[in-house]
Amino acid sequence: MRVPRHIAIIMDGNGRWAQKRGLPRVEGHVRGVKVLRRVVKWCLEFGVEYLTVFSFSTENWRRPKEEVDFLIDLFVDTAERELPFLVREGVKVRILGSKEGLPEKVVEKWREVEERTKNLNRMTLVVAFNYGGRREIVDAVKKIVEKVKDGEEVVLNEENFRNFLYVPDVPDPDLIVRTSGELRLSNFLLWQGAYSELFFTKTLWPDFSKKVFLRALESYSKRERRFGGLQHG
Ligand code: IPE
Ligand code: IPE
Ligand code: MG
Repeated sequence: MRVPRHIAIIMDGNGRWAQKRGLPRVEGHVRGVKVLRRVVKWCLEFGVEYLTVFSFSTENWRRPKEEVDFLIDLFVDTAERELPFLVREGVKVRILGSKEGLPEKVVEKWREVEERTKNLNRMTLVVAFNYGGRREIVDAVKKIVEKVKDGEEVVLNEENFRNFLYVPDVPDPDLIVRTSGELRLSNFLLWQGAYSELFFTKTLWPDFSKKVFLRALESYSKRERRFGGLQHG
C-alpha cells in the first residue's frame, strides 16, 4: 500500500458526538484528544512522517466564551500531559497558527513543546491552533512587506513564497481527511492543500477508529495523482 507521507485531519464532530449522548459539548473535545493520541500511534505504525491536526481555527473565537476558554485550557493541559509520551515515541511537535490574541500561557506552552521535541525525528506532529489559511497567507505577505521596507530584495515565486508561511519546512499534505460529514475545508491549509487528495467520512471525530483510518489510507493508495499532467502508463 502507498502510504501518504503527510496526512492532515480536520477533527470535526466533537460537539455533536457529545450532544447525541446528552453530554456537554466540551466532553466531546476531551474524548477527541484521546482519539488523537491513538492516531499518532497508527501514524507511527504505518510510517506516516507528518500528521497535521486542526484543533482550533481563527473562526472558532465566534463560539461561546466558555467553550473557547475550555479549548484553550485543553490545549495547554494536553501539551503538558502528552509531552512525555511524545518524547518517548520520538515525535517532533510544531504548532501551526497565529500567536495573536492567544493568552501568554498558550504561547509559553507552544514554545516549550517545540523546544523540548525539536531534535526528535521519528515523526512530526503539527498542531494547528488559532490557525486560518487566509490569516496565514496575509501574515506571509506582511512578512514580505516588512523585508521590502527594510530594503531587502525579495524575489517572489510560488516556491519561495512558501518560506514565509508558518512552518515552511513541512511538506504539503498528501491527504486531507475530514470527519463528521461536512464537505468543506473551513479555511484549513489553503496554500498547502492545492493538490492534496481529500477523504471525507461521516464518522464523528470521537468515534474515529483504526478501521476508518485504514479506509482513508486505502482510498488514498488508489488515487492517481496527476498534478495537472497526463495519466501515466
Ligand atoms: C471540532 O468539533 C473541534 C473544534 C472545532 C474545536 P466541533 O466542536 O466543531 O464539533 P461539531 O462540529 O459542533 O459537532
Ligand atoms: C473546523 O471545524 C475547525 C476545526 C476542526 C478545529 P468547524 O466545526 O469550526 O468548522 P465549520 O464551522 O463547521 O465550518
Ligand atoms: Mg464542527
